[in-house]
Amino acid sequence: MSILIKNGLVANASEEFQADIYIEGEKIVAIGANLPHKAEKVIDASGKIVVPGGIDPHVHLDMPFMGTFSSDDYETGTRAALFGGTTMVIDFILQTQGDSLYNALRIWQQKSAGKAIGDYSYHMAVTDFNEQTAAEVVEMIEKEGITSFKTFMAYKGALMIDDGQMVQLMQVVKKHGGMVTVHATNGDMIDSLIAQNRAAGNRAPVYHYLSQPEVTEAEASARFTDMLFYTGCKGYIVHLTCEGALNAVREATKRNQQVNVETCIQYLVLDASLYEQDFDGAKWVMSPPLRQKKDQEALWAGINQGLVNVVATDHCPFTWEQKQMGKSDFAKIPNGHPAIEHRMELLFSEGVNKGRISLPKFVELSATNAAKKFGMYPKKGTIAIGADADICILDPNKKHTLSAKTHHMRTDYSAYEGFEVTGKVETVLLRGNVAIENEKCLLQPGFGQFVVRKAQ
Ligand code: URP
Ligand code: ZN
Ligand code: ZN
Repeated sequence: MSILIKNGLVANASEEFQADIYIEGEKIVAIGANLPHKAEKVIDASGKIVVPGGIDPHVHLDMPFMGTFSSDDYETGTRAALFGGTTMVIDFILQTQGDSLYNALRIWQQKSAGKAIGDYSYHMAVTDFNEQTAAEVVEMIEKEGITSFKTFMAYKGALMIDDGQMVQLMQVVKKHGGMVTVHATNGDMIDSLIAQNRAAGNRAPVYHYLSQPEVTEAEASARFTDMLFYTGCKGYIVHLTCEGALNAVREATKRNQQVNVETCIQYLVLDASLYEQDFDGAKWVMSPPLRQKKDQEALWAGINQGLVNVVATDHCPFTWEQKQMGKSDFAKIPNGHPAIEHRMELLFSEGVNKGRISLPKFVELSATNAAKKFGMYPKKGTIAIGADADICILDPNKKHTLSAKTHHMRTDYSAYEGFEVTGKVETVLLRGNVAIENEKCLLQPGFGQFVVRKAQ
């Protein structure tokens, strides 16, 4: 199939320009003004913005967590992502403590094979580091194209590793050109604050927030950057939320260290005042929790200072019934919220349309940097000759309101109910195939491909 996209404002991470794009098969073949190519399908993008398909490098699909499973699977999750202009996601495989990385890989391959509609890759979460794990880490990088290894400094007894294991993992990963990523919060301190609150009879969702103060994230972020500095390993902090943690990264730059930082859309646009309502606050129980307005300001500034490189979602949805597991105890509310569909439009609306970031910066945050840092560039994350034709066309002026009534995620509430957005994703292409058009998804389960990533 050949497609010609005409007259759009094309934006990459480094520039924006008026151009046509000609696509043949899965690839972009030509870019330029008034292209003479004849195509089977012509898309008129006059007045529209044409950007690389979004890459969300932090999602949890069909993940076992806190006694249940996140409610979007590979089919519903990648479909909802496509509706929002995200053509590729990176999900997390969780090693079961006491079991191998390969067993975990096989479980996630069964979850995704034949179901994914959009493209995907996996980070491997190392929850039990030992000699066998070390050998498997090398195989993941060299044989499986999985080059990033997720660690948790919290969730003790389930996912957390200690600092000794962290340093050893970094040493192996560095040697083989991979990256260690981290959920950086001080797990012991959080567990003790949770225990204190429960003992005092404080059971409402707001105590989830109060048990994870900013300092728990700032301390762990500093500790992680110190371990990276010592080992020389490449590192990436996921879902960074606050000024204190960002300052830990800023501090590391003073010794010429470069640390990769991801924030998530919710930390830029929502704040902790949402916890000041009874059990409804459970909709935003996630870890780390939403923070203060001053943290939002620090994150937007950090983006423009080049300290924050990626905006993801940490999409980890649960239904309202699942959230009831913590009705009488905040510590039992499954942590996470639905966002995979809204990331691109919210970032465009709150970022570009409100003048906080430029259009190229939007592309960098939503696609290009994830592709570069996770070893997929320039196949993914850019509009360039020879790249995969993953493209998102959005109308920059179209206003709409987010709601559970219209979203495609498998949750019966929206964490963004009533949020007014300017800018709407209209047409999405994945590898030269029309994925979204006229508010319909045209691709079938199984279309999504696993993307093999390169070590660096
Ligand atoms: O609340 C969250 N973030 N749930 C998913 C697991 C994680 O920590 O990323
Ligand atoms: Zn996390
Ligand atoms: Zn997560």
